[in-house]
Amino acid sequence: MRRRLTLVAAAAALGLALAGCGGAADTPAESAAPPSEATGNVGVFTWWADGSEKVGLDALVGVFNTDFPKLTFDNLAVAGGAGSQAKSVLAAQLKAGNPPDSFQAHAGAELQDYIDAEQLEDLSSFYADNKLTEQFPKDLVDRLTVDGKIYSVPSNIHRSNVVWANVDVLKKAGLDPAKPAENLDAWFADMDKIKAAGKTPLAVAGSWTQVQLFENVLLSSLGVDGYNGLWDGKTDWKGADVTKAIEAYKKALSYTNSDRDSLSDWAPATQLVEDGAAAYNLMGDWAEAKFAQDGKKAGVDYSYFPMPGTQGVFNFLADSFTLPVGAPNPDGAKAWLTTVGSAEGQSAFNKAKGSIPANITAKTDDFSEYQKSAIKDFSQDKIVSSLAHGAAVPVAWLNELSTAVSKFGGDGNVATLQESAAATAAKFAQ
Ligand code: GAL
Repeated sequence: MRRRLTLVAAAAALGLALAGCGGAADTPAESAAPPSEATGNVGVFTWWADGSEKVGLDALVGVFNTDFPKLTFDNLAVAGGAGSQAKSVLAAQLKAGNPPDSFQAHAGAELQDYIDAEQLEDLSSFYADNKLTEQFPKDLVDRLTVDGKIYSVPSNIHRSNVVWANVDVLKKAGLDPAKPAENLDAWFADMDKIKAAGKTPLAVAGSWTQVQLFENVLLSSLGVDGYNGLWDGKTDWKGADVTKAIEAYKKALSYTNSDRDSLSDWAPATQLVEDGAAAYNLMGDWAEAKFAQDGKKAGVDYSYFPMPGTQGVFNFLADSFTLPVGAPNPDGAKAWLTTVGSAEGQSAFNKAKGSIPANITAKTDDFSEYQKSAIKDFSQDKIVSSLAHGAAVPVAWLNELSTAVSKFGGDGNVATLQESAAATAAKFAQ
């Protein structure tokens, strides 16, 4: 019987494990990566191909190049936020027996998919050699472990339930940027004011960004237990509270930009807020990296707040890196994983990426105010698992639900989406 890596209750414990450490060094960092005699190319597969995400990857590669000058980083990134293109390209390469040296995978159900398919090497001795178990919270390592074997090295922790707002647009609509709405109804009332002021209330892009909006409307409407229950079978997808949540999602969509399906990815939607064409964008906190790198000032140009109705909840996702079975340069891959897991690698990468380090010895003193607030929130909030980013459900479930959510964007048929989501859950929930 396999053990599914849901990060729901477990990640709550992880939050506790990080409490008090503030994400900064309470214990001395282990010394730098062990010397490696590995040479040659290290092909690393991600979807951090452009914009602020590439800046984050480049920061990590900079540390890698210093740590391992004999190795050459080979960037195999495939563009498309949330791995919207990359995951299927990777699946085909793995199936064809042509794996990269390391690939990005979300901690949780998505990682479990690769483990079940026996596509990943056990990294337990790598963890022991690099004393990694001491540098990550035990509860997180437990979540990367199946039958006593650890399968990936987490690089960061992101939050999906953040609303980013244009301060000026809010003020001009008569809203106080310092007082965000506390629930969905109040948020919709604010969006009516923004609409009346002639701006797009809510920016969103194509399919996965709509799934991310959907998950956070579900979380806001159903609460933590109701939301968690959608993935473990305890919440009835056919119930009246889910109908109400889907109706709220329909209302949220009614405030969005009409060209949403033609926006290729998350960045153009966030850009609408940056440019003052739209008031809000519900987006994971990789958006913080974009605002910062575009020279925008928090509190002056933009503000952020938890999705209304989800205060005190951290909708969690984490990227991690693997050693695939059959990797052409496994020693080179281990060098990469050493940098990924190191305090120095995590400080450089996360500072540029908008996320917070998974390595609790990483220094975060020079992180942004947003990131410092995320570190604090992660230590005290209730933690739930993101649907759109591989934490809550396996890829096959996510793909099927994403198709239904996309279709709903066109027809707005609440009953059809609810029936289809219920049928999908019945197929996959265990
Ligand atoms: C997530 C990933 C993040 C970020 C985001 C947008 O799935 O975990 O690191 O890349 O997609 O592309």
